[in-house]
Amino acid sequence: MSDDHMTTTVPEAIAAVLGWPVAHSLSPRLHGFWLQEQGLAGTYLGLPIAPEAFEPTVRGLAAAGFRGANVTVPHKLAALRLADVLDDAARAIGAVNTLVFQPDGQILGRNTDAYGFMANLQQAGVDPQVGPALVIGAGGAARAAVHALLSAGCPRLYLTNRTAATAYGLAESMADDRIHVLSFNCLEKLPDDIVLLGNTTSLGMAGKGRLALDLAGLPDTAWVHDIVYVPLETPLLQAARQRGLRTVDGLGMLLHQAVPAFRAFYGREVQVTDALRAHVLGDG
Ligand code: ATR
Repeated sequence: MSDDHMTTTVPEAIAAVLGWPVAHSLSPRLHGFWLQEQGLAGTYLGLPIAPEAFEPTVRGLAAAGFRGANVTVPHKLAALRLADVLDDAARAIGAVNTLVFQPDGQILGRNTDAYGFMANLQQAGVDPQVGPALVIGAGGAARAAVHALLSAGCPRLYLTNRTAATAYGLAESMADDRIHVLSFNCLEKLPDDIVLLGNTTSLGMAGKGRLALDLAGLPDTAWVHDIVYVPLETPLLQAARQRGLRTVDGLGMLLHQAVPAFRAFYGREVQVTDALRAHVLGDG
């Protein structure tokens, strides 16, 4: 049976995003765009689920015939613990953002954030193999970025974080000698050989503080990426643009991480296009 046949004969493929809160999540909007574009009779819900209700909800959704669920703050670790099987990225990153309910009843825990991080950079034209990258931050998003960069063949990865111990912990758990932890002072005088600087902290987000760093020392060919996408052009990206550097915004990562989830839930291969971006931003 072809995938097409399976998806068109199941009248309602249902999936959801689980978060607490969930109202801010763009996932229903972006999966909704693809469902309509593909002409599929499917549904994608945003469900606000309190932490104590997470596990029973997931088991209930599986029993009710949902295809799976995306998982956002604060459930990514609970999802890791609940899954029966994990993909390599989920295991390496230590978090699950996509639960897929398998026909045999098992719950597969996946992490598509690393895929989304890299697909976004590659679509912009970044080649992580040509030189070192600097990742700022050591939280969950940093773990996805580091895993993505190392998997894509980044030859050297500088890692810096306000709390150095967390950066060392991340480096130790990834056990890869391409990772070099730098002190947070490095932001005042950045390494002059980096191809990509990526912010994975929440600094630069509307209402939060700014990342204090001096981009002067970066090579003219460097790319600057910010995981923050509210605002779309963060102070970091604005400074990079003014310095003549190429930039990649954080919305693309969110859009790309949903592509494997859509494939798992609805059986179709979809693309991240300008029309999708415009729709998610509310202009399309
Ligand atoms: P996420 O899962 O989104 O990555 P997180 O795990 O809470 O969120 O990680 C937040 C990251 O932002 C951390 O690297 C954090 O640095 P610390 O480990 O020192 O807390 C970083 N961060 C948050 N606020 C910061 C600030 N004001 N200055 C510097 N780094 C900050």
